Amino acid sequence: MKFLSTLFGYKGWQGEQHATMSLSRQILLTAGRSPKMLLVTLWSSLLALTAQSVAQDYGTSPPVYPSPPGTGIGWEAAFAQAQAFVSNLTLEEKTQLVTGIEGPCVGNIGGIPRVGFDGLCLQDGPLAIRQATYASVFPAGLTAAASWDRYLIFFRGLFLGAEFKDKGSHVALGPVVGPLGRSAYGGRGWEGFSPDPYLTGIAAEETIRGMQQSGVQACLKHYIGNEQETQRNPRLSPSGTTIEAVSSNIDDRTMHELYLWPFANGVRAGTASIMCSYNRVNGSYGCQNSKTLNGLLKTELGFQGYVMSDWQATHAGVPAIKAGLDMDMPGSIGSSRDTSFFGGNVTHAVQNGTLDQDRLDDMVKRIMTPYFYLHQNEYPPIDGTEPTLNSDHPPYQHPFTLGASNVDVRSGHGQLIRDIAAAGTVLLKNTNDVLPLTTPKTLGVFGNDAGDLVNGQYFLTSAFQTPFGYEYGTLPVAGGSGAGRLSYLVSPLEALKARAALDGTLVQYILNNDLVTQPSGLGAIMPVPEVCLVFLKSWAAEGSDRRSLEADWDSTAVVSSVAAFCNNTVVITHSAGLNVMPWANNPNVTGILAAHLPGQESGNSIVDILYGAVNPSGKLPYTIALNESDYRFSDITNSTKLLRTEDPNAWQSNFTEGLLIDYRHFDYYNKSVLYEFGFGLSYTTFDVSDLSVDKHNATINPLPEDLPIAPGGNPSLWQILCTANFTVANTGNVTGAAVPQLYLSFPSVPSSIPTPRNVLRGFDKLWLAPDESQTVSFSLTRRDLSYWNVKKQEWVIPGGTFVMSLGFSSRDLRLKQHLDVVG
Ligand code: NOJ
Repeated sequence: MKFLSTLFGYKGWQGEQHATMSLSRQILLTAGRSPKMLLVTLWSSLLALTAQSVAQDYGTSPPVYPSPPGTGIGWEAAFAQAQAFVSNLTLEEKTQLVTGIEGPCVGNIGGIPRVGFDGLCLQDGPLAIRQATYASVFPAGLTAAASWDRYLIFFRGLFLGAEFKDKGSHVALGPVVGPLGRSAYGGRGWEGFSPDPYLTGIAAEETIRGMQQSGVQACLKHYIGNEQETQRNPRLSPSGTTIEAVSSNIDDRTMHELYLWPFANGVRAGTASIMCSYNRVNGSYGCQNSKTLNGLLKTELGFQGYVMSDWQATHAGVPAIKAGLDMDMPGSIGSSRDTSFFGGNVTHAVQNGTLDQDRLDDMVKRIMTPYFYLHQNEYPPIDGTEPTLNSDHPPYQHPFTLGASNVDVRSGHGQLIRDIAAAGTVLLKNTNDVLPLTTPKTLGVFGNDAGDLVNGQYFLTSAFQTPFGYEYGTLPVAGGSGAGRLSYLVSPLEALKARAALDGTLVQYILNNDLVTQPSGLGAIMPVPEVCLVFLKSWAAEGSDRRSLEADWDSTAVVSSVAAFCNNTVVITHSAGLNVMPWANNPNVTGILAAHLPGQESGNSIVDILYGAVNPSGKLPYTIALNESDYRFSDITNSTKLLRTEDPNAWQSNFTEGLLIDYRHFDYYNKSVLYEFGFGLSYTTFDVSDLSVDKHNATINPLPEDLPIAPGGNPSLWQILCTANFTVANTGNVTGAAVPQLYLSFPSVPSSIPTPRNVLRGFDKLWLAPDESQTVSFSLTRRDLSYWNVKKQEWVIPGGTFVMSLGFSSRDLRLKQHLDVVG
């Protein structure tokens, strides 16, 4: 897999210019009763659950059975292979294929040598093959989204996938589109892309295509409504009652237009698998929710791959399987290796008639079809180092073939990593063109985010598990299973020193925030630098949500202190999510760069931007509000009362804001913001002109139903109904990339929840030389022009006039066109 860049034509940046816990316990308790009794118990539990959900204001989880069998649409030849394969297996072998076991990887399916099957190795995660040695650490999903560059996002997926494959890992546990980013405080928002479903949908699609073209299976996660870390799992109350995981209560329209939207893109892109989430959705656990799994995913979206559980997110056997779960990970119940909801229980359930053999066959076929489709029957062996890194040592219950250890899979991916990190850096302020730097005589570098790491290079260890991570060292990625083991890291200070040396620039630095904020803390700096660079960071990690949206480590005081001393202060943030910037309007803060989580090439990528080797072209994939309190509309559900509750069902998160998250909220309520969604400066300027709209001939309403459902849902939803054409020009003095953005304002829609004022429905990134212009077309599909009609249970194009607005951010809209689609 050495020459992917050549094969796929990656030219580098230069080239580019041109059921609940109680239900599960009942299953355990009812083990040994007759199958008929078991079914009665199950159904009554399900009905009770449904009744409980109906009573809620937000959404319901009605039962949807039976689980629709996969038919292999789009993967016909592989499906036939999977069918033949299944017909050759014993019942116990089928059970083995759907149940995780201990092994060398984070998740493992044991091999069956009798039929030449070597097993499956599942590894985290969305930005690196997490635990591996000699592997690359890519920019986070958030950074990729901030690039608004489909081409780079595709290559990120392709190169990531190649590293998984070369390490012998069949399934990459990513990308992430849930959390989508309902709350700015979400601890894992950075693993995914953007709170905008359209941008996230495209980023997921490109990532999945890239990954799977390299031969690895993608696992789109976490399905669905996984918008907070707090109480994501059940826990015991002080008196020993099981308090169930938070329930994300989402109304049907919001489910379709916001949270399900990017999953539809991912299914259409052919994702092999989907990971169901820890939380409950409308009262029922994500991994045994027949409405979301059988209904939305496997029926409405026509998903043909398999659903795997998040680790220990399975709370039952047969009910979860009937609700649509296909694979249990890691296969054990809690830390007890000898117990499983699946495994022997699945075998018994088939034997005693509780579970249809056909459903088990369907599970196996769903698992084996993508395997054959991606030719994984001929695959590199698992890197011999993996067992040590996973702390799961042989002997294993089933065989795994291990290959050489410490295989170097980095294959020169550093250049792409550097390019994406620069492309995902957003220039927010540039007073008097302080940037790009031109041979400054003196530079100051401040803040604990500028230097090298001092606590090690793998952010999963306990050294990083404080609410603020580690004090000293730059933040290339955040923590938890979405992190990566860094084989190297170029820190900002190191790269700046190297670049400054070319001009003989004097570089002075203080990396201790405590010192910087002391009254005479900057006394050692002499002379006062021409430009002072302040590096700030904000940590987040799986398992907890963020406490504050300001950067960590006394960041606001650090900026005031440096800015009081240096009237040309440029602030650079590395952060796991968005930051509020209380210092943004300080006149001495002349430059601001949101550099997100850049990965291993951090220092090089920021130097590329600071010195203008790369013209900034990143745009915010979220909104930066004026104040932290402005984000209260979608708070994480948490309170001292809930932390002490004895009510198993107390954790309810009602998504009352509906569709109005991020810019949709600020626009709807006409609120001023600091930097809006889609905003980002360049060292040049752009303009748009000549917007026109072509309508294509198509049956408009109702949605044609004669086409069979295909992955991604009714195929007519993807039909192009109109095209917006316009011209973009570079009106400045240097080459740069424009990101024209198209927003759509819907005519009035009959709905009990508010319709956003404007929604993103088109974007692209174009490199243009000074005075160069280019004509561009954005295609709008039926889905783009439809809302989810709850009564009709289908996508409907509203009558009336749409307004299309084109510009360079959600609030810099320069051209408008009116469009009547119906009639
Ligand atoms: C739990 C996380 O939620 C998931 O994203 C990850 O893939 C698994 N753990 C395995 O590490």
